[in-house]
Amino acid sequence: MTSARDQGPSPAELLGLAVSAAREAADLVARGREGAGEHVGTKSSPVDVVTAVDAASEELLVGRLLAARPDDGVLGEEGAAREGSSGVRWIVDPIDGTVNFLYDVPAYGVSVAAEVHGTVRAGVVLNVATGELFTATDGGGARLAAPGRPERRLRAGRPPSLEQTLVATGFGYRAEQRRAQGRVVAELLPRVRDIRRFGSAALDLCAVAAGRVDAYYELGLNPWDHAAGALVAAEAGAVVTGLRGTPVGQPMVIAAAPSVAGPFADLVAELHP
Ligand code: IPD
Ligand code: CA
Repeated sequence: MTSARDQGPSPAELLGLAVSAAREAADLVARGREGAGEHVGTKSSPVDVVTAVDAASEELLVGRLLAARPDDGVLGEEGAAREGSSGVRWIVDPIDGTVNFLYDVPAYGVSVAAEVHGTVRAGVVLNVATGELFTATDGGGARLAAPGRPERRLRAGRPPSLEQTLVATGFGYRAEQRRAQGRVVAELLPRVRDIRRFGSAALDLCAVAAGRVDAYYELGLNPWDHAAGALVAAEAGAVVTGLRGTPVGQPMVIAAAPSVAGPFADLVAELHP
């Protein structure tokens, strides 16, 4: 007989821990906004920035998660990488939308996902600037808790056609990749309602979940960019896929309202060589 303990933590337990760690990290990020420009480094290219606050937020997240669950693994954007022994791995983005954070554009968030034996079971994306908290558990639906408003269940939109589909996307940091991504957007734009570029992949996926855009695609994301947001989108009824049958994020993340998911994925595949 298998006991509840053998089955490991429930998605709801993992979500509770993810939310409390994300809230603390978001407070730290909010306090760091004023001096954000003071300690800025670069990573993969001169436009791929990292601030001291990114590093501090990741340290806090990893510290809180492992203090509560010392046998878990961790993967983080700013270098956290630890094999665990429990079957649970936390995938964290300490600030998704670092360029927005730097410029005070109110779309940057803390993203925390809990993967159990390789499958994401719980995820939270907290927009630091607005306080909007997007959460999901595998099979338990997606929710938005916004300051001063009752928590609500999220449902992806229902655009009637591809021509009326509002699409979010993003671009990588390397010049060559951007050139290629720009060519794809130029072809896509006349075939959909319009394009949005918010600057945070995690929040883009939550925007699909909330029906604020109808679809999103991006090439070349890392797991921390999409792990939590993809679960939020999927649990809100969006169809989340990779490119031409490849796994999500390898190398593409596509999330779309079910009414246009097939034609949208076909269009992205047609335009991406
Ligand atoms: C970036 C953002 C951006 C996306 C990039 C990501 P970062 O993450 O999610 O929207 O277009 O591909 O790298 O660098 O702000 O954590
Ligand atoms: Ca990111």
